[in-house]
Amino acid sequence: MRILIVYTTRYGTTEKAVGLVKKLLGERGHEVEVRRVKENPSPSGYDLVILSAPVYRDGPHWDLMEWVERHREELEEVPKAFFLVAVYLAGSVFMGKLHGGIAYAQPLVEAFEVPPFYGTLIGGEIDPDKLSDEDRKKMVRFYAVLGEKLEKKSLFSEKDVEAFVRRALLYYDWFGRHFKRGEVEKAKNFDFMEKVRELERLMG
Ligand SMILES: Cc1cc2nc3c(=O)[nH]c(=O)nc-3n(C[C@H](O)[C@H](O)[C@H](O)COP(=O)(O)O)c2cc1C
Repeated sequence: MRILIVYTTRYGTTEKAVGLVKKLLGERGHEVEVRRVKENPSPSGYDLVILSAPVYRDGPHWDLMEWVERHREELEEVPKAFFLVAVYLAGSVFMGKLHGGIAYAQPLVEAFEVPPFYGTLIGGEIDPDKLSDEDRKKMVRFYAVLGEKLEKKSLFSEKDVEAFVRRALLYYDWFGRHFKRGEVEKAKNFDFMEKVRELERLMG
């Protein structure tokens, strides 16, 4: 397939993940193009578009969201998957509202009439010494809310990136290829559990 990966990054973790996704997809024989949102690539004409961004200030980085807004009409016509890079992976319920974890992806899911068929979070990294003064101050506050101190940490795992690629391709075959305008009806009656049972049979 022809796959476009569109991403943005501030400190390089998302870029590292994107590089690995490209390599893994390439090894499986896919033709992959990687573009930064700032280059304003067109998503038209690909079989699959992978959106990727770090989480900043409780949501997908605004540069990705701006690009999505600019290309929303074209993006409705193509199957989409995404991964977000974040440090607050578990999330919580905070004053009765979902906070962090996969709830970070909500603006990305709600941006479309035909939503992404698959998306997940992968672990990010924080190195206080590398942050700008402004970002360091924000992060100190972020961790204070969690009752923690800002410290260097890495939750990045190649295994998580590999899992994203494996699942994105599996679900693309199962139903994701129909997640585009005009075809999404074909995926409506998809029986997830039947597929799981089929896999179980295959695995013995
Ligand atoms: C100013 C700032 C705000 C952040 N806000 C969040 C946040 O709301 N939730 C979260 O899980 N991670 C947050 N992070 C952590 C980043 O998602 C993490 O550092 C990620 O690895 C950055 O990816 P990048 O290197 O591609 O920019 C924040 C980091 C910074 C510096």
